[in-house]
Amino acid sequence: MDPQRQRLYKQFVEGTGVCSQYQDETIAGFYATPTYLDACMDALLNLITISPQEVIVEIGCGKGTSTRKIRARNPAKIIAIDPSGPMLRHAQEAFQDDATIECKLGSAEELSRVVERAEKVISINVFRYFEHPENALQEIYRVLNPDGIYLFNVPVMTAQEEAVYTPLYKTLEAVLSEELGKEITLPEMKGVEPKYRKEDMEALAASNGFIVAQYEEMDITCNEETMHAIHERSVAMAKLMWQGSFTEEQIERMVPKLQERLRQFREGQKGKEFFVGRMALVCLKKTQREG
Ligand SMILES: C[S@@+](CC[C@H](N)C(=O)[O-])C[C@H]1O[C@@H](n2cnc3c(N)ncnc32)[C@H](O)[C@@H]1O
Repeated sequence: MDPQRQRLYKQFVEGTGVCSQYQDETIAGFYATPTYLDACMDALLNLITISPQEVIVEIGCGKGTSTRKIRARNPAKIIAIDPSGPMLRHAQEAFQDDATIECKLGSAEELSRVVERAEKVISINVFRYFEHPENALQEIYRVLNPDGIYLFNVPVMTAQEEAVYTPLYKTLEAVLSEELGKEITLPEMKGVEPKYRKEDMEALAASNGFIVAQYEEMDITCNEETMHAIHERSVAMAKLMWQGSFTEEQIERMVPKLQERLRQFREGQKGKEFFVGRMALVCLKKTQREG
């Protein structure tokens, strides 16, 4: 198994390792920004004003869904960066006729390699993936002009019981555990506690030369139809992950089980709105300390 697949295998089958799914060509192909985040992205961008002369640096543009949201605010230019070649290629293709969007390969932790100066840095649905957020903040500090801002969203709390992802991962765990004859715990299940409340963010900001200029929290919910779509995508992804790790026969046994259990879960929750999680919308302002 190639090393990338090996990592994915560890994440989805053994429940260990750091998630790097966006580097995978096939996962990137599957990825779609969930529609339940639409209102959140708008609320985040409403925290600031973007003038028509401004150049915006977007960290973690992915396939460009969030870039379109920023584009709708009419800045002069967007420098959209992402460390995943497969994700960035989708964005490059989507914006090939748009001269106002420049896509570049790069990560938050090495931002100064791809961007010299910036007045506003934005990342949407990305901060949670920083392995060392302080390193990312130090780099953002480095490229920001005095009084520059960094705008981003981050889950304060991810889905709990009766929500979307916990039942999904539990179902995956149950099917895997049955097949392997041992208890399997997926890593996603380990991160449900509140992590980024306002006081945590203030401490993180202060130790990296920022102040929290604005902070709001909003609940993210999704309806049954969206959940169905999430389940379909997850089943397709699980099937893919399992190839190379399980035999065809095992996969043929596991996939229908997974589908049926998820169907039963939806059936039992008809007409409900689901709590996906609580999101913090954060605007940091650079302080006058030398970076
Ligand atoms: C959930 S996707 C969001 C994509 C896009 N912002 C959107 O909302 O449509 C997360 C993206 O963050 C990128 N990412 C992960 N770690 C990153 C890092 N350290 N620096 C910059 N981007 C990162 C991934 O490659 C992926 O494209």
